[in-house]
Amino acid sequence: MTTNKESELKTFNNSDISSDIFIRRCSIDDLDGVIEVNERELPEDYPYFFYKSILDNFPETFLVALSKNGDIIGYIMWRVEKTPSIDSLRYVNKGHLVSIAVSEKHRRRRIATKLLIESMSAIKKYKILQYVLEVRVSNYSAIRLYEKLNYKIESIKKKYYRDGENAYFLVLNV
Ligand code: ACO
Ligand code: ZN
Repeated sequence: MTTNKESELKTFNNSDISSDIFIRRCSIDDLDGVIEVNERELPEDYPYFFYKSILDNFPETFLVALSKNGDIIGYIMWRVEKTPSIDSLRYVNKGHLVSIAVSEKHRRRRIATKLLIESMSAIKKYKILQYVLEVRVSNYSAIRLYEKLNYKIESIKKKYYRDGENAYFLVLNV
């Protein structure tokens, strides 16, 4: 179930970022704003039902950043995947970062860092062993962001993106 009642939306302490930025859980009413940021800032677009299903299934780790006037200026969303363990004897959970973006004019204010740190903490309730993500090999700023949080390049996924660009597969053990 989606927890979309305002009272259930946890607002995070924002003392480590500008006092005019708020980070809280995404609600169903935020999805249009999230999609707007995604379409402006990233070439990978998804249909509405995709966002909705992520919100329904993993609401704890779908966060939005808002400016003082209530505009959505950033978001992060994750899903949890079951994958075979190294010895293939059992399944383990991984947290897969689906997408993160911050509006261009609000960048370099640690908003993405805050979105990552809060959601990575929240996703631990799923008993994940690893955080994983893909990023374009040309996306220098995002790679720097992830490396700052200790993610390491594990492999390259050839022609991962529709336009043929390769992805780095980044991993961080919990
Ligand atoms: N150049 C170099 N390093 C950068 C840059 C940049 N333009 N932007 C961020 N970084 C690095 C820096 O080390 C920075 O720390 P510093 O400012 O103390 O030097 C660190 O990342 C943290 O930066 P934040 O301020 O937390 O990041 P920001 O809020 O600006 O958002 C983001 C970063 C999300 C990558 C933003 O640039 C963006 O929205 N880009 C377009 C969308 C995108 O590429 N998303 C990631 C795709 S991959 C995926 O979604 C799985
Ligand atoms: Zn992915």
